[in-house]
Amino acid sequence: MSDTTILDEVAAASPPAFPARGRRVVLGKLTLTSRFLLSPLAGYTNFPFRLVVREVGGLGLATTDLINARALLRGTPRTLEMIETSAADAPLAVQIYGADAREMAEAARWLQDYGVAVVDINMGCPVHKVVKGGGGSAMMCDPSGTVGLVRAVVEAVRIPVTVKMRLGWDEHNLTAPFFAREFEQAGVAGVIIHGRTRAQGFHGHVNRDGIRAVVEAVARIPVIGNGDVRNIVDAQTMLRETGCAGVSIGRGALLNPWIFRDLACWERTGQPGPRPEYGQRIDFMSRHLYLLAKQRGERFACLTFRKMANWYCRALRVGRDVQQRLVMLATLADFEDIIAELRDQGPPPSWHHGPEPQVPVPRGPIERW
Ligand SMILES: Cc1cc2nc3c(=O)[nH]c(=O)nc-3n(C[C@H](O)[C@H](O)[C@H](O)COP(=O)(O)O)c2cc1C
Repeated sequence: MSDTTILDEVAAASPPAFPARGRRVVLGKLTLTSRFLLSPLAGYTNFPFRLVVREVGGLGLATTDLINARALLRGTPRTLEMIETSAADAPLAVQIYGADAREMAEAARWLQDYGVAVVDINMGCPVHKVVKGGGGSAMMCDPSGTVGLVRAVVEAVRIPVTVKMRLGWDEHNLTAPFFAREFEQAGVAGVIIHGRTRAQGFHGHVNRDGIRAVVEAVARIPVIGNGDVRNIVDAQTMLRETGCAGVSIGRGALLNPWIFRDLACWERTGQPGPRPEYGQRIDFMSRHLYLLAKQRGERFACLTFRKMANWYCRALRVGRDVQQRLVMLATLADFEDIIAELRDQGPPPSWHHGPEPQVPVPRGPIERW
């Protein structure tokens, strides 16, 4: 089904409004201007990408890639680059991970002094490198240690602290409702819940009943639903079926960075707003690359862009030839040649009628990620 058809379907639905409950997401003293958030996608949702998405509009809060608390305290150059931001990139949450409560609290204090709006604790990452040190989703297996760590972080700062987690380690250990309740008592300002277990990785469907159980477990704090939201219908379903206060979107925003603008527009007017033109999509891609180059230089920008190129190619529905040139991009001059050709050729026929592009996720057994 094409994007346009989905949006048409939504526009035709009656009554179409989003559930009104929790229209404003309030995290401690911070009131978000939109209840649609950008999920962290390590390696993708970098500072330049966030800036361009914010320029399109509709985004309530963005989060950095997960940051190793110990590396932050050591001030490693790579880590400091990963938290680079500016006034135009606000409000921003920096996501930290680690298993040492003292280090995590100290890192949160450091970030508060640095000026970020929110500290987010990663409790969902299934990747071996993170889990083997007791961080990420491994924290869901150690209730008392984890609650103690989260409390230590909350008590260390005045800014809101959130936790992003999965439903649990596996289907036999759906511990998210328990943790959410405990975290609320510890003073956490909100939780973001990816509706899968660690064992699921990115397979299977998002369990919205599982997210609803988290919503029902807390008394006051907002619960943000996450997982597989690609369009307005998905967001509506997430809000309606879970009762969550807001929605966090990751891969859907890589495929369609206009999704936040569409959702915000829909809430205001009942219409998603015009579909971005082919040329606007190219402009977005170009601005992303040039901001990357401004931040880190041409060579780094081209290397970073290669990973992102696959997503842009899917969205633009370009052929293999262009895709191969973009994933091997070496210079800005090459990029200019490629986009000049794309603009000359105009959108391919599938731009109007092709199926919704599919989203690649990490492959292989989860133990080896
Ligand atoms: C490539 C990739 C990188 C990710 N990096 C992070 C991360 O750094 N921190 C985090 O909490 N979640 C991370 N996630 C999980 C996403 O934030 C999100 O929870 C998940 O992709 C489901 O949402 P979506 O279907 O909207 O993408 C990552 C996911 C992917 C696919």
